[in-house]
Amino acid sequence: MRKLLSLLPQKHRWISLLTILFAIGEVLMETMMPKVIADILNQGIEKQDMSYTLLSGGRLVLMAIFSLVFGVLAAQTSSVASMGFAKELRKALFHRAQDFSFSNIDRLGTSSLITRMTNDVSHVQMAFMTTMRVMLRAPFMLIFATIMAFSINHTLSGVFLCIIPVLSVFLFYVLKNARPRFKKMLKTFDKLNARIQENLIGIRVVKAFARDDWENEHFDNTADEVRNAQIHAERLMILNGPFMQLMIYLCIILILWFGGKMIVFGNMLPGDLTSFLIYVNQILVSLSMVAAGFNFLVISRASVNRINEVLEEIPDIPDSVEEDSSVQDGSIQFRDVSFSYAGNMDNCVLSHINLDIQSGETVGIIGGTGSAKSSLVQLIPRLYEVTNGQVLVGGKDVREYRHSTLREQVAMVLQKNVLFTGTILENLRWGNQEATEEEIIAACKAAQAHDFITDFPNGYQTVLGQGGVNVSGGQKQRLCIARALLKKPKIVILDDSTSAVDTATDSKIREAFQRELSNTTTLIIAQRISSIMDADKIVVLEQGQINAVGTHDQLLETCEIYREVYESQKKGVA
Ligand SMILES: Nc1ncnc2c1ncn2[C@@H]1O[C@H](COP(=O)(O)OP(=O)(O)O)[C@@H](O)[C@H]1O
Ligand SMILES: [Mg+2]
Repeated sequence: MRKLLSLLPQKHRWISLLTILFAIGEVLMETMMPKVIADILNQGIEKQDMSYTLLSGGRLVLMAIFSLVFGVLAAQTSSVASMGFAKELRKALFHRAQDFSFSNIDRLGTSSLITRMTNDVSHVQMAFMTTMRVMLRAPFMLIFATIMAFSINHTLSGVFLCIIPVLSVFLFYVLKNARPRFKKMLKTFDKLNARIQENLIGIRVVKAFARDDWENEHFDNTADEVRNAQIHAERLMILNGPFMQLMIYLCIILILWFGGKMIVFGNMLPGDLTSFLIYVNQILVSLSMVAAGFNFLVISRASVNRINEVLEEIPDIPDSVEEDSSVQDGSIQFRDVSFSYAGNMDNCVLSHINLDIQSGETVGIIGGTGSAKSSLVQLIPRLYEVTNGQVLVGGKDVREYRHSTLREQVAMVLQKNVLFTGTILENLRWGNQEATEEEIIAACKAAQAHDFITDFPNGYQTVLGQGGVNVSGGQKQRLCIARALLKKPKIVILDDSTSAVDTATDSKIREAFQRELSNTTTLIIAQRISSIMDADKIVVLEQGQINAVGTHDQLLETCEIYREVYESQKKGVA
């Protein structure tokens, strides 16, 4: 928690300090009031001193007003501080997530990141507010009220002094046992979130496979798990309330019993007994408030840890700090590159890759699914880090560039690409803020997107739904290509980016690329031989290794896999 608190901006620290001062003020007023009541009873009413009664009554009203004002101010400042705190936490988490590499995200999981930014931050925010309002106020109350009670009657104070340890031991026991239960509960929450996310993102697939019933059943099971975990955790906490009540009433009975006797024997004034009872109530209630506050802190501790986990996750592809030179040209070299998603050499998906690509070349990459085509090209813009060996772009190791410099020049159309909510124009501009209208149209023409965009009634102003739901798969792919082209990069990588585009359009895209991007290095991953057969060089990947490199004609002669794929696709066409 201390680490998170360091995120609290200076302004909110002052506000938090104010909350503490207001809380102390409120508590001071509240603990002084019973004393005044005792005086009214003992001095004013007992001795029928009207002016004293009125004067003290006036003081009482004034104190009540002050207490109210302080209370309101404390509530207000603590809310402001805790909301500010939550904002800073979310900001820190979001910014950190932006620095994450693909493998960081693989490790933490998107749905878990979302839960952490929403649920967990809310928990911590509540805990912070509770601490400010309750956990600071209650101990002051406990101390002041105890002092006042003692000043009224030592002997009678013995009663609650006996009760407090019993209560404390009980509360400690409950909290200690509740902690692991709450941790478990939060884990099940995570699972629920992941389920909801996955299902809703993939709802179309669920429907297409008519798996609604199966999904419902599984969701019910997960929801059951959450409920059971919640019940399990709360079962302990619900003991708190009744036990507290029992202790308070026990205390009151004992005090009335002993106090009553004292009054009868003339050792105590009736007014003192009244205020003593109020103090005892204040003491025990604040003790239970401390317990409730602890309860909150227990719950939020798990959230604090989960937030810290994200903040402490080190982006494993750190940005190069030194001022770098720009990318010289679009040449790419792989030097004995091995790569494993887990980062160890035992289960490499790519091993000992050596490949030279000249600037301006067009290179086709072909291979079965799972042959690590995507893995290979993701190393070029350094979306993943090589496990061994070196990837050079423009003659320099990719690790020597800043991310922004490198990725500015290496535009990649990912296999699983997304568009964002907004107009088509906004989505295209996302690739390059400064692009002029002519540039946008040129890029769209090259990607064969211009025609279908202008066919929409709103043209470039057409609003795309979340993830680009209202365009077809092939249209989406073409928009993604256009977006990448707008960056005017030195290297363009298309990872199976025309798979949903018909062959005629596909070949038009390639023609446009040859015409307009002749100086740009182009890497094309494709399933169709027709998409890559004109390439300067074709790389055949097999199980993470290069099987052959050559032109279409060379490969037809020398590479058996290539020939087989070609024959089978030709037959398909015929
Ligand atoms: N994010 C990931 N984490 C762990 N393993 C992965 C990840 N992405 C892909 N893989 C594994 O790496 C191998 C190569 O995958 P990929 O490069 O996507 O193949 P291709 O693009 O040729 O179909 C596969 O065995 C796949 O299971
Ligand atoms: Mg792939």
